[in-house]
Amino acid sequence: MLKLPSDESQVTTQESVIAPVIAPVIAIDGPSASGKGTVAEKVAGALGYHYLDSGALYRIVAFAAYRDNIKWNQADALGDMAQNLDVAFKQGDIFLEGDRITEALRSEEISRGASEVAIHPTVREALLKLQQSFRKTPGLVADGRDMGSVVFKDARLKIFLTASVETRAERRFKQLANKGIDANYDQILADLQARDLRDSQRSAAPLIQTDDALLLDTTHCSIAQAVAFVLKVSQKDCN
Ligand code: CDP
Repeated sequence: MLKLPSDESQVTTQESVIAPVIAPVIAIDGPSASGKGTVAEKVAGALGYHYLDSGALYRIVAFAAYRDNIKWNQADALGDMAQNLDVAFKQGDIFLEGDRITEALRSEEISRGASEVAIHPTVREALLKLQQSFRKTPGLVADGRDMGSVVFKDARLKIFLTASVETRAERRFKQLANKGIDANYDQILADLQARDLRDSQRSAAPLIQTDDALLLDTTHCSIAQAVAFVLKVSQKDCN
């Protein structure tokens, strides 16, 4: 008997199920500040696909924990809370229980908190189905750390997008400077190094380049070049 996963739309006739339509996924994983979010969003726009910023979900858990006085190391309380998140993504904005929290999620405190709450299997399990529910036709581009290795193992295309840590620190520094935010390059570099270490050394869904992922090193290439690369390989892959 054919069992359909919940993320498949089924095509039926009066007699039987004839074929499941499985939405294709492009998984883009990589370290902090590699530009994967920008690239993923642009690729999704160009293909008319849905977009999942999975890091935003970890940020939302950190934000809600901060608000509710739950500490980053309270794995069970964090997991319970992550299971019952009332979140909505609407036109580039993020809402928690109806409150718009888009900018609040980007603060340094919440960025650090997101990487701390993300180490707990309780939190990762609680967010798994929510992430998979974003898979809808005509397709999904998902970015994060474990899109290709855990959440969408059967992704049609997997990209591991990275850049040297110095380049990533420079990019983040310029991004903050452009927003008029006072930033310290050395501090940003140290913070990225700490986050890289935490992401790649945790036991639950560590950041890794899987064997079936294509490496895209953007140290010497622009966002536009990275987008063009992903679109090119995605077409090759789909035909
Ligand atoms: O901007 P940055 O890449 O640092 O952050 P993000 O993609 O918004 O993710 C925030 C944090 O969530 C990261 O530091 C990761 O530790 C964690 N994360 C994760 O563990 N798994 C994912 N699929 C996405 C993010």
